[in-house]
Amino acid sequence: MKNPIQIKRVFLIVLDSLGAGEMPDSAEFGDRGVNTLRSLSRSKELFIPNLKRLGIGNIDGLGFMGTTEEQQAAVCKLSELSNGKDSTVGHWEMSGIVSRSPLPTFPDGFPKEITDRFSQLTGRGVICNKPYSGTQVIADYGVEHMRTGDLIVYTSADSVFQVAAHEDIVPVEQLYKYCETARKMLTGKYGVGRVIARPFAGDPGSFVRTSRRHDFSIEPPEETLLDALKAADKDVISIGKIKDLFAGRGLTRTYATSGNADGMARTMELVDCDFNGLCFVNLVDFDMLYGHRQDADGYAHALSEFDKWLGEFLPKLRGDDLLMITADHGCDPADESTDHTREYVPLIMYGRQILPVNLGIQRGFTNIAATIADIFDLNYKYEGFTILGEISNMRRHLIGAARRARQNSYSPYSGFRVGAALLAESGKIYTGCNMENSAFSPTICAERVAFAKAVSVGEKAFRMIAIVGGRGDGDIEEECPPCGVCRQVMSEYCGSDFRIILADGPKWRGKCGGYKEYRLCELLPLAFNIC
Ligand code: THU
Repeated sequence: MKNPIQIKRVFLIVLDSLGAGEMPDSAEFGDRGVNTLRSLSRSKELFIPNLKRLGIGNIDGLGFMGTTEEQQAAVCKLSELSNGKDSTVGHWEMSGIVSRSPLPTFPDGFPKEITDRFSQLTGRGVICNKPYSGTQVIADYGVEHMRTGDLIVYTSADSVFQVAAHEDIVPVEQLYKYCETARKMLTGKYGVGRVIARPFAGDPGSFVRTSRRHDFSIEPPEETLLDALKAADKDVISIGKIKDLFAGRGLTRTYATSGNADGMARTMELVDCDFNGLCFVNLVDFDMLYGHRQDADGYAHALSEFDKWLGEFLPKLRGDDLLMITADHGCDPADESTDHTREYVPLIMYGRQILPVNLGIQRGFTNIAATIADIFDLNYKYEGFTILGEISNMRRHLIGAARRARQNSYSPYSGFRVGAALLAESGKIYTGCNMENSAFSPTICAERVAFAKAVSVGEKAFRMIAIVGGRGDGDIEEECPPCGVCRQVMSEYCGSDFRIILADGPKWRGKCGGYKEYRLCELLPLAFNIC
């Protein structure tokens, strides 16, 4: 099926660490009860009128951000499939790669064979070699480093090998070379997500980290969305640390940034340039300057700055642009630890061709990759569902809503699960699932549950209904035409032109299944109707 919309430019902006709340497995990551956005909502520094009108507060569980009746973007939250909560794994997942096993961490420091080898290759000693806060480590070890020339090696709860050095002792270019050396050395079971150069400056007692931090990421283990876009001759532009996270792979143009303001300024320049493909932006300050430092007010202020920027950016978007705003993990500033937090992430999709629908909870950041692949008609072969149909085409959106309703099917007797989504003339959508009963005859079909919900709140006219059915609870779907009783109920409330949309296939690997469409008069000719 041809794409229902024509998009030329996708702006994918990652607000680093802007988590949307606890996932079912957050406790396993030591993150029970976390919610980065909720912590920000409690700050008096938060002023985000643009994100609110797009619909951030309409995202499942984020009502505290302030809901709106007139949501302007498609919204949902995404769960993370990967076993991790860091930037690398998060960005890889949104480009299609699910990391089943976590990248290695070193809570007791790196083994001697590693530090010895590093010393041998750099000709410098190693000090610290423990998990440490980045600002504290230079305060505690900076003087010794300046005296001896030894490198400050430290880690965190993340999979990182960090090397701090004073810019006057180790010139930055030299520090980068050392980090490249470490990157080559750290493979296999020592294959940390990132080696990070952490240059600092200043005098003892007032050392400060400089903006010349540099990340050397492990290469993604498989082809990513970025590789596929590049191979299809699309522009793949990175702004900020994206380049580092993908080890430079799959990109056609890159811009390093000194922080959020710089990243936003670059993106504002690009919106006025012609390109065809993806502009992938990471705004790192949220995480680096505020999340890790547990500074909720600073974080909220930074988000308000982003919101202000959005006010200027949104009107510049063209008719064939799509803006996606998301995050790579959480970093709840109110959490007791300074580390990242395992959370859902928000996904806000805005553009002139985008239906402002609420897609609830979607499984996997991979949906971002699948959707972008669908937009550019790439042969996307990884895990993930495209949501392009749902955000651009009402019929496919209804199928998506029916598919989600199907997850609530109560069908222990037949094992046949059905979901329906009914579109009223008012524009509102009412969903239903089948509800079975041990006495069998009280069983109610999904369609009639949807009609009962709609009619009972005063809806009187209807445009169409989508029906998704199938056996079992997996993704297997089969065509599920409405039963005779449901057809009769439809004819009570709907005219002969009422549309019935039957999903006719599974949805998998980036492609949304197809559908067949019927008019009520085709499915119920000669309907009994006494009025
Ligand atoms: N079912 C529906 O929900 N809608 C239909 O149009 C056909 C049948 C349900 C009822 C029952 O729970 C199960 O499918 C098997 O008949």
